[in-house]
Amino acid sequence: MIEKYSFGTHPETGAVVAAVREGERLPYFTAKGEGEGTRFACPLEKGDIVYGLGETMRGINKRGGRYVSFNSDNPHHNDSMPSLYGSHNFLLVSGERTFGAFFDTPARAVFDIDLSGSGRIDVLCERGVTVYIVEGESCNDIARQFLAAIGKSYLPPLWAFGFGQSRWGYKCEKDIRSVANGYERAGLPLDYICLDIDYMDRYIDFTVNKKRFPDMKSFVSEMKARGVRLVPIVDAGIKIEPGNPVFDEGVEKGYFCKNLEGKDFSAAVWPGLTHFPDFMKKEARDWFGRQYKFYTDLGFEGFWNDMNEPAIFYSEYSKGKAGDRACGDPLYKGGAYLNDYKSFTHDMDGETVPHWEVHNLFGAKMTQASSEGLQKLLKTRFLLFSRSSYIGAHRYGGIWTGDNNSSWLMLRRNFTMMPGLNMCGFLFSGADTGGFGGNCSRELLLRWLALSCFTPLMRDHTTIFTRRQECYRYRGKNDFKSILSFRYRILPYLYSEFMKAALSSDLLFRPLAFSYPKDERAKSVEDELIVGDSILIAPVMEKGAKGRTVYLPEDMTEVRWNGKVFTEIPAAKGEHFVKVSLHEIVFYIRKGKCVPVSKGGTNTSEVDLKDVTLLGDGKEYTQYLDDGLTRDCTAKNLRVITK
Ligand code: GLC
Repeated sequence: MIEKYSFGTHPETGAVVAAVREGERLPYFTAKGEGEGTRFACPLEKGDIVYGLGETMRGINKRGGRYVSFNSDNPHHNDSMPSLYGSHNFLLVSGERTFGAFFDTPARAVFDIDLSGSGRIDVLCERGVTVYIVEGESCNDIARQFLAAIGKSYLPPLWAFGFGQSRWGYKCEKDIRSVANGYERAGLPLDYICLDIDYMDRYIDFTVNKKRFPDMKSFVSEMKARGVRLVPIVDAGIKIEPGNPVFDEGVEKGYFCKNLEGKDFSAAVWPGLTHFPDFMKKEARDWFGRQYKFYTDLGFEGFWNDMNEPAIFYSEYSKGKAGDRACGDPLYKGGAYLNDYKSFTHDMDGETVPHWEVHNLFGAKMTQASSEGLQKLLKTRFLLFSRSSYIGAHRYGGIWTGDNNSSWLMLRRNFTMMPGLNMCGFLFSGADTGGFGGNCSRELLLRWLALSCFTPLMRDHTTIFTRRQECYRYRGKNDFKSILSFRYRILPYLYSEFMKAALSSDLLFRPLAFSYPKDERAKSVEDELIVGDSILIAPVMEKGAKGRTVYLPEDMTEVRWNGKVFTEIPAAKGEHFVKVSLHEIVFYIRKGKCVPVSKGGTNTSEVDLKDVTLLGDGKEYTQYLDDGLTRDCTAKNLRVITK
């Protein structure tokens, strides 16, 4: 059951699509104040666990942390970072009383989850908020009800579940070819390569640098013919450059955000000064979406939207201060001056709305704009993932978790974020595998890839300032071959479980306690997850470890992949130390369940999803199966396969 409660007003966020009735009196929380902000407080019992909050640091259990929903471009990820790129204000309290609460507000919100031992959840919403309270029988039930209320996940094509390589710094055809060749020569699988900002003419959206890519259209088709799709980046800001038709039309039709004087607002990002499309305005969204025709005409079928918090290096107002950026200026907020976000406005149905009040929606609305545009331009499903997001954007595209770094903590955070992201609708998600900043060691990359084999988005991405991070550049290619080939073996399961979860508003990743609610021990497990209906994963996330301790809440089948064969052995309920070499993947199949695995391939097009072997001690598996491109994705594509 879901009921909603309003505290002040706020612009429509589009997060909830189901009809929800107004409740009479907000349960669980006390509420104080309105207008300037409302403070909510909810007492917690000692054993209560707080799940959710999507893209946030710390563990699966959010207790003992403070999280600020204010979409930020800040690459210094660590456990005390309050804000990342998305705002996902849904939390799920599990204990004596189990319920979900979604604070639907497009402005800044602060969640103090018992940080200082207050024994409370304190939430401050700076502006109007609608609070949705979800009640149900169990954590699973509550999560599912919430997912049903916010609408079905975006559905990517099958190839988007392949392995992708990316790096800020690939400049020209030659660079891209050499990456594809590197993978091919090493016999390593690859499905796509991302084109970062250097493919553009001076970082201007909807352009191609002709010197670097003289004939992009034939290059895209040449690469596609060898099984490698190219995925260009698209940034939020449009370079101020009269004569550029996209810019000119945006100015002429009034599609850009306005500054404090009512003129088009100027802020610097990669191309220098830009104007921001007013994604809050339908006509501007439609216009921006139409621009993707430039890419679809070139044959692109996948895109990543970036810098859409929006990231601001400096604005027309903070220009002189740009030099102070790293000097502890209290107004500086990792990439932008907070005041910059108070310096422009949106036009929402004729009403001028300060950006500050809808800040957390900007990236989500960019994703909506491109997704709606692409749906008109393409007949098939497309790959789309964004950096910034808000709940609701999950219906339009996936997300990646931004500029992490090559550290063991970030690998762990990739892991702990997955269930929270799923609870907030973002099923198609993943992190920069290997880490964006910093140099990635061979060991870290192999362990990270072993986790990423289970995340729907599996992309190795890194910044220009680091050592190259393509798998074929590391010694001992067979270890990489073993891990990457696992992804193509497990594809029938991963794709099927993703599609089933998306179509039935369910989670793909869940904390152990969601599947084993009566198991006391499962409640505190932070390093194991259930993936889909059948699998428990317990990846190695520690430097130098030869293996790890795994807790099994019931008897299961231990499956070990060594690059050649799967071996299955029964594993008893309880604690085990499991050895896992760098080239191996070990996972567990729940009692009575099955997992279909394929014969493999070095490209998703080579994987025969129909030709599968069932692992596990179950008897049958219900597989979702289609051509991987059709938009007609329904339960009619389910088939039962038996042993
Ligand atoms: C941002 C993105 C990163 C990208 C870089 C250059 O930092 O998060 O993924 O490589 O910009 O475009």
